[in-house]
Amino acid sequence: MSSSTNLQYIVQAGGQLRGSVRVPGDKSISHRSIMLGALAEGVTEVSGFLQGEDNLATLNAFRAMGVRIEGPTNGQVTIHGVGMHGLHAPAAPLNLGNSGTSMRLMTGLLAAQPFDSVLIGDESLSKRPMKRVTAPLISMGANIQTTNTGTPPVKIQGGHPLQGINYTLPVASAQIKSCLLLAGLYANGRTCVTEPAPTRDHTERMLRGFGYAVEVNGNQICLHGGGKLQACPIDVPADISSATFFMVGATIAPGSDITLRHVGINPTRIGVINILRLMGADLTLENAHEVGGEPVADIRVRHAKLKGIRIPEDQVPLAIDEFPAIFIAAACAEGETVLTGAHELRVKESDRIQVMADGLQVLGVDATPTEDGMIIRGGTLGSGTVHSRGDHRIAMSFTMAALRAKGVIRIEDCANVNTSFPDFVELARKSGINLVTAE
Ligand code: S3P
Repeated sequence: MSSSTNLQYIVQAGGQLRGSVRVPGDKSISHRSIMLGALAEGVTEVSGFLQGEDNLATLNAFRAMGVRIEGPTNGQVTIHGVGMHGLHAPAAPLNLGNSGTSMRLMTGLLAAQPFDSVLIGDESLSKRPMKRVTAPLISMGANIQTTNTGTPPVKIQGGHPLQGINYTLPVASAQIKSCLLLAGLYANGRTCVTEPAPTRDHTERMLRGFGYAVEVNGNQICLHGGGKLQACPIDVPADISSATFFMVGATIAPGSDITLRHVGINPTRIGVINILRLMGADLTLENAHEVGGEPVADIRVRHAKLKGIRIPEDQVPLAIDEFPAIFIAAACAEGETVLTGAHELRVKESDRIQVMADGLQVLGVDATPTEDGMIIRGGTLGSGTVHSRGDHRIAMSFTMAALRAKGVIRIEDCANVNTSFPDFVELARKSGINLVTAE
C-alpha cells in the first residue's frame, strides 16, 4: 500500500503537451475482471489490466480466498476461475488499501458466501461510508457489521442466505448498484436496482460478457440469482479518468496537441468530454470501435480557449471522478463555472470540494466551495504549495495546473498516485511537463 513518506511533486510552470500517449487500463473494469474471472468457470485472460495499488488489492484479496491468479505482467493477468461456490475463507482480514470500489463491491459478494470475512483499509478508506451498501444487503438477509458511524472495518458473517431485493438507490452510485448485483447473483429470486441517474455500467456489460443474463429497462437493472459465469477474454481499455488529466492539460496549455490512444468511451463515463466541450475544448474522437463490449477511441486534444459554464447536473454522475481536473480547466476559463449536485465529491478519497478549493485558493484562484459543488471564477494561476490530502486525482490535477501557472507548483503527499496511475510521472514528463519528485 502507499508509503507514508511525503512524496512531493515539484512542477515548473509552463510547457505544452504533445505526442501520443496510452494511459493505463481502466480501474473500474480491472477490478471487475478479477472479481468475475475468479467466480467464473474456466480461465479468464485479461490484457491491459491496471497494475495500480487499488487493483492489486482486489487481486490479492481473491488470491487470499484461494483463487490462482498469474501476473500481472505488462497488463496480462490469467485468472483460474473457481466457480460461483469455489472461494475459500481468507485466513486474515482482507486489506483493500485505499480502494472504495474493492470494499463496496466485495461486501456484496462476500455477504453471500458460506464463510466469515473482514474487510479493512487505509486511513482514508476507513473513513468512507459503507452503510450505503450494508443497509440494503442486510435487508436481503446478510449479517454485516461496521463501526457505529457506518465505516470500516466491515465484518461479514457468512452462511446467511440472501433474498432478491427491489432497491432504489438513494444516490447515483455504480458501487452500490454493482455491490447489489453481485450479491444478487447468489440471492433467491430476482434482484432489481433502480438508479436515480445513469452510472457506469461496466458490471452489467461484463456480466453479459461472462454469459449472465442482465435485464435493463430504462433506469432499472435486474438479474436472477443462481446462474453461472463462463470465463471470457477481457481487453481493458485505457482509463478515461486517467486520460482526463492530459485532456485538461492539453486544453489549457497553448501549443498543445496530444492524442490519447485506446481510451474507453463508454457513454456512462464521458461526462468529462461533454463538459469540456461545453466549455469550448477541442476534442476529436478518432478510430472509434468496440473491444469486448466496451467502446474505445483515440482522443485528440488541442489547446483551446475555455469559457465558464453552469455544469449540467445530469453530467455529474458521468464525470464523478473527473471534477478535480475539471476545476483546473474552470480556473483557466474566462468567466464563472458553477457546479451543483455533486455532494458525493465530499466522500471520495478526500473531500474533493474542500481540498480542491483550498489548493486553488493557494494559487490565487477565486474558488468558493459550496455544500454540493463549487463556484470558480477563471483567472490567473499563481504558484505555491498545495496539498493533495493523499488523493491521487488531486495530485495529478494540480500537476496539470502548472502548465498555465505563473510559477512553480509544489504538491504534497503524492504517493497515492500509485493507486490508479503508476507511471504518471513518466508519462507526464514524456508529454512535456517539467516535473521532479522529492521525498
Ligand atoms: C466506481 C464508481 C464511482 C467512482 C469510483 C469507481 C466503480 O463511485 O467514483 O472511482 O468502479 O464502480 P460511486 O459509484 O460511489 O460514485
